Amino acid sequence: MRQKRKIDHVRLALAEPVSGRGLHDLVLVHNSLPEAAWDEVDLSTDLLGCRLAQPIIINAMTGGASAVGNINRDLARVARSLGLAMAVGSERAGLEDPAVAETYKVVREEHPDGVVLGNLGAGANLADARLAMDMVQADILQIHLNAPQELAMAEGDRDFRGQLAAIADLTAAGLPVLVKECGFGMSRETAVRLYQAGVRAIDISGYGGTNFARIEARRTGATLDPGLEGWGIPTAASLLEVTGAGLAGLEVVASGGIGHGSEAAAVLAAGAVAVGMAGPVLRALHTGAVDGCRAFLAQVLSSLRSAVLLTGARNLAELRQRPLLVRGETAAWCRARGVDIDAYARRGPQSTG
Ligand code: FNR
Repeated sequence: MRQKRKIDHVRLALAEPVSGRGLHDLVLVHNSLPEAAWDEVDLSTDLLGCRLAQPIIINAMTGGASAVGNINRDLARVARSLGLAMAVGSERAGLEDPAVAETYKVVREEHPDGVVLGNLGAGANLADARLAMDMVQADILQIHLNAPQELAMAEGDRDFRGQLAAIADLTAAGLPVLVKECGFGMSRETAVRLYQAGVRAIDISGYGGTNFARIEARRTGATLDPGLEGWGIPTAASLLEVTGAGLAGLEVVASGGIGHGSEAAAVLAAGAVAVGMAGPVLRALHTGAVDGCRAFLAQVLSSLRSAVLLTGARNLAELRQRPLLVRGETAAWCRARGVDIDAYARRGPQSTG
């Protein structure tokens, strides 16, 4: 049954609309006189001590059924050819059934020198976390939070107690843990609680891209609880409230509905250290196989480089000092939540490139 669910998730995610809600509210200010050259723009970044040659991560999607192993293999080939980090989908299936472990291991086999992220659900204990890391020789372990998805599933979890304590056990043991949402966004309060539990990297995975409440309802033929329709914190709002929280040393990955290089540039300027992409990468692979998926992501990287250059920045640290306008519903959200968006609009060198 779990294998069928994995296959259904891929099939239904292919049909997901991407709105990127709120991302168009983030606008970088054009610089007509950039003192920078295309070739010198350095997009590299660091995540939990790992150097990423590019700031795009192919985010957690799949594994756990023989029919989806090919997807992980193909995605890993794309990741390797472009120097991207890649996460596998939840490894729970691989822990419970060694017969499908190969559908995850293939990622490390295809991307031997790359940054690979393992993935388990919140509540995982230390022994399982170590096994999940070993399975793909992971550099980082993603721990996912997905309460809305569980509630949308008839057979899903209904008790979410103890997840923070379980995460604290992993950080106390020194595991390189990145806690991620799955498309519903994280609030500042959640980020603070995770930070206090020792977490130093999160992926806010906001609302506006792949929506697993909707996918689960479609998968089971159920009507989505109207209360879950539209539930979640849009990616731009979530990112700004978390990066504006002043949590020293917290590395924030942005994901959820990011489909273009210019959107990636905007969230990097808003303080993300890297950008996760899942649904759009899956669709590119589905329509164009490995070559089409590679071309799609190469285009994302190219337009990201253009956007960085056109702010006059030569690297991501400089990009984070360039003026960034926050408009529309994202601005309203930020004002209500006490995020100082004027500081983003007015920052940066006023007179030089
Ligand atoms: C996912 N996502 C996901 N996340 C996770 O932490 N563990 C998982 O096993 C999965 N599985 C999964 C399957 C498929 C088919 C998709 C498309 C996505 C969620 C994913 O990593 C990401 O957080 C969301 O999809 C939002 O990003 P996008 O898709 O809008 O770029």
